[in-house]
Amino acid sequence: MSSTKTVKVDFGDGRIADMPVLKASIGQDVIDIRTLGSFGMWSYDPAFLATAACESKITFIDGDKGQLFYRGYPIEQLAEHSTHLEGAYLLLHGELPTTQQKEEFESSIRQHTMINEQLVRLFNGFQRNAHPMAMLTGVVGAMAAFYPDAFDFQNLDSRSDAIHRLIAKMPTVTAMCYRYTNGLPFMYPQNNLDYSSNFLRMMFGNPCEEYKVNPVIAKALDTIFLLHADHEQNASTSTVRVAGSSGTHPFSAIAAGIACLWGPAHGGANEAVLKMLEEIGSEDNVDNYVAGVKDKKYRLMGFGHRVYKNMDPRANIIRKTCYEVLDALGKHNDPLFKLAMKLEKHALSDPYFIEKKLYPNVDFYSGIILRAIGIPMDMFTAIFALARVVGWLAQWQEMITEETLKISRPRQLYTGYTARDYIPIDKRI
Ligand code: CMC
Repeated sequence: MSSTKTVKVDFGDGRIADMPVLKASIGQDVIDIRTLGSFGMWSYDPAFLATAACESKITFIDGDKGQLFYRGYPIEQLAEHSTHLEGAYLLLHGELPTTQQKEEFESSIRQHTMINEQLVRLFNGFQRNAHPMAMLTGVVGAMAAFYPDAFDFQNLDSRSDAIHRLIAKMPTVTAMCYRYTNGLPFMYPQNNLDYSSNFLRMMFGNPCEEYKVNPVIAKALDTIFLLHADHEQNASTSTVRVAGSSGTHPFSAIAAGIACLWGPAHGGANEAVLKMLEEIGSEDNVDNYVAGVKDKKYRLMGFGHRVYKNMDPRANIIRKTCYEVLDALGKHNDPLFKLAMKLEKHALSDPYFIEKKLYPNVDFYSGIILRAIGIPMDMFTAIFALARVVGWLAQWQEMITEETLKISRPRQLYTGYTARDYIPIDKRI
């Protein structure tokens, strides 16, 4: 972290502090306020809207330019040339793998896809109608009980094992959540398949029959995984960092991230898109619905983004994938997809949406793709978690290997009672 200039903070009582400005390699520089406490003051920034909580070299987003880089590589180039597992290696190690490193990494992931039989039994404790995210949080948290050696994460081998295990087992456990809900027999992984094909087979295969992978679907799913693998310091990633900063078991820190992702303000948006499309019902109702959006009665789900005020770069990529999937499955004439495409066209040409920079975001298209593949809505966030586990692990690893690692401990602006004396129960009113 280099600093060439400072910002003067005037406390209004004759004290003036020089706060260094830390230089970012790209994007916004930050004011280093760590000495603020010695002046008897804290900074106030609820929801961390203006606070850089860490230094990171992993993912960069420029919302105005619509850019997303993994370790400096634009997401467009990765989506065109790479795969989710290669992206995972890049996020975790900082560089693209050589042929040998790629083979070793993929082979290690393949070796760890099975889960302990005791964990299989754990599923029987859930009600059949349990939400997949509730099961996923529970099962991933419970996995900590099976790998106590992962606590030794400062040891490179233990840490690699924990990371590979989590990436390998997420598709298995996610598919089990789906199969359990539907009373279907669990499918064991088949390790000659690639990552997304294996997941598809565990989701939709039948133990009595051979499962034929549709390569267009497998590629689309792999693209969804890659695009969702990391997104800088979002709520669930920050949760993993905060939980991990205590030195807790990595599986527990990841379970905390999954719990955070479940919320509708975070991972639940593509589910909201499908609910909205179902509510609109037919193409004929699109104009009416959009009129309601303009009257601010409700929002168009899958449009707009907190960070991207230009097109979400992931949306551009996945839009093409979405059309390929609908083509491959012959679903262009499905009324729901026709409706979605009409809505997309409408919003992209309507001055109201153009002026407010409300472009379709990644969730608009990923919801449509997942639905076309046959994945039920309540599984959408679990698929997101499956992909995001890579980013969580990369960010967790970056944090726990810092020399200056400290447990996260935010301050507060206390506005409650000042000190007062205890009131005996018979004197209370
Ligand atoms: N539909 C209609 N109007 C909208 C929408 C929308 N989806 N999003 C923002 N606006 C309007 C809003 O009414 C406001 O209008 P005005 O200036 O007249 O008051 C203006 O745009 C700015 O709104 P904002 O709430 O200040 O914008 P924001 O950047 O805080 O909101 C957002 C970002 C994602 C919460 C919002 O766009 C939204 O609610 N979108 C729908 C939900 C959604 O698709 N979420 C998924 C986001 S992608 C998740 C990911 O990256 O993983």
